Amino acid sequence: MTSPALSPIFNTPQMEPANFLNLLVVDDERAIREACREVAQSLGFTACVADSAEHAYRLLETQTFDAVLLDLRLPGVGGLEALRRIKERRPEAIVVVVTGYGTVQSAVQAMKNGAYDYVTKPFSLDELKLLLERVASHLKLKSENRLLREKVKSKQGFGGIVGRAPEMEKLYRIIAKAANSAHPVLILGESGTGKEMVARSIHYSGPFRDKPFIPVDCGSLVPTLIESELFGYVKGAFTGANQSKDGLMAMAEGGTIFLDEVGELPVDLQAKMLRAIQEKEIRPVGSTRRVPINVRILAATNRDLELAVTQGAFRRDLYFRLNVLSLRIPALRERREDIPLLIPHFLERTIRASGQKKELSDDALKALLAYDWPGNVRELENCLERAYAFTSGPVIHTTDLPREIGNLPPPQPHSGDGNGRAKIIPMAELEKQSILSAISELNGDKLQAARLLGIGKTTLYRKLKDYASEGNWP
Ligand SMILES: Nc1ncnc2c1ncn2[C@@H]1O[C@H](COP(=O)(O)OP(=O)(O)OP(=O)(O)O)[C@@H](O)[C@H]1O
Ligand SMILES: [Mg+2]
Repeated sequence: MTSPALSPIFNTPQMEPANFLNLLVVDDERAIREACREVAQSLGFTACVADSAEHAYRLLETQTFDAVLLDLRLPGVGGLEALRRIKERRPEAIVVVVTGYGTVQSAVQAMKNGAYDYVTKPFSLDELKLLLERVASHLKLKSENRLLREKVKSKQGFGGIVGRAPEMEKLYRIIAKAANSAHPVLILGESGTGKEMVARSIHYSGPFRDKPFIPVDCGSLVPTLIESELFGYVKGAFTGANQSKDGLMAMAEGGTIFLDEVGELPVDLQAKMLRAIQEKEIRPVGSTRRVPINVRILAATNRDLELAVTQGAFRRDLYFRLNVLSLRIPALRERREDIPLLIPHFLERTIRASGQKKELSDDALKALLAYDWPGNVRELENCLERAYAFTSGPVIHTTDLPREIGNLPPPQPHSGDGNGRAKIIPMAELEKQSILSAISELNGDKLQAARLLGIGKTTLYRKLKDYASEGNWP
């Protein structure tokens, strides 16, 4: 038996993290309990076992556990109910649920109800070992982060960032540190990983959160206008400058300017930006005077800036200035455990906004969990919003998801007639399909379409006229 004093992690966060952690294994199968106990002990956990939910509750009354490995299929009690009661008694404990094969839906539900992760039976000892190692490193980080995080949370939180992967925990830690410093931060990450979201949370977690946060998309500004957009201009600086105007840097005074896609900044502007950062002053276009500024710089890019430096496309000195502190947001496929958290997050947000409840079918959920998400969180967010909008019934099916996600075969132009026979399509219909898809494939080039279809252009135009009169062609 372990005394509660042996588990200081959650009770006394100011103490150094302990080298050992307490784990409770709840499973009605003796062999599994014992295997888990052995693996856990080999990793330095102090492990206790319980063969039923009731037994587990009793242990939780008298002992402190940092983590619980909970079989969702326990005799007599629903696993989700057991999870609820464990979290009620020990809200801080990390609960990993063990599910049977093919019950991914209940695993996701468990994660929504506060489980940290899930593992599917049957699992190998190696799998279990990896999982427990992750739990241990998570617990360690969690205890280190606790004070920092609580400080930040009491202000603005992490700006609604969802994710509990160890890499994300590390990120929160850096965000909390960055928020309280005035140094520039370079935020790296693939498209859609949440760079702007991280920039916002650095700003809104910091002491100047009441001051402006001004995002500037360096990639979409017209090159000739960037300088005046950023630094402002004085009356008469160029044709049409009827009066002086502050630039974005001046508008951010006291707060943060977020240079998004900073790699796209033209080289001449890079020099001016460097001077603004170094000397903390700017010169509006057309002015001879320099104006002091007090602005915190955050920058983001999905480009390899180091490579751009070696290629001469980005100034080395500016790169070093921006890169005082850098953080990289991992791609979603590198932290797959966050996918089951993000799915309900976005779905519930859409439901709240529209008021109509819809849920994912088992297959649709599996497809979403298995997909690689090259467009990262943004792609997942868009996919769910679109699937929600396209689905008229209460259930979102795999067929409502984009083909590449649902792993569906390409669309069949025609389906069977219900008697096991392929549907018979009239020649005219086939011809129409062939003509219309050729034109669309060739981006509207009708002459080329006629040539490739092997018909004369007058014939093509005549047919299009016919389709238009049927209402099938614009
Ligand atoms: N961890 C997360 N939790 C919740 N929402 C997220 C998370 N990461 C990203 N998002 C959402 O995904 C979308 C894309 O995020 P954001 O615009 O910050 O990404 P980005 O890296 O700047 O993308 P891009 O490179 O395309 O500009 C936003 O709607 C954001 O709210
Ligand atoms: Mg962005």
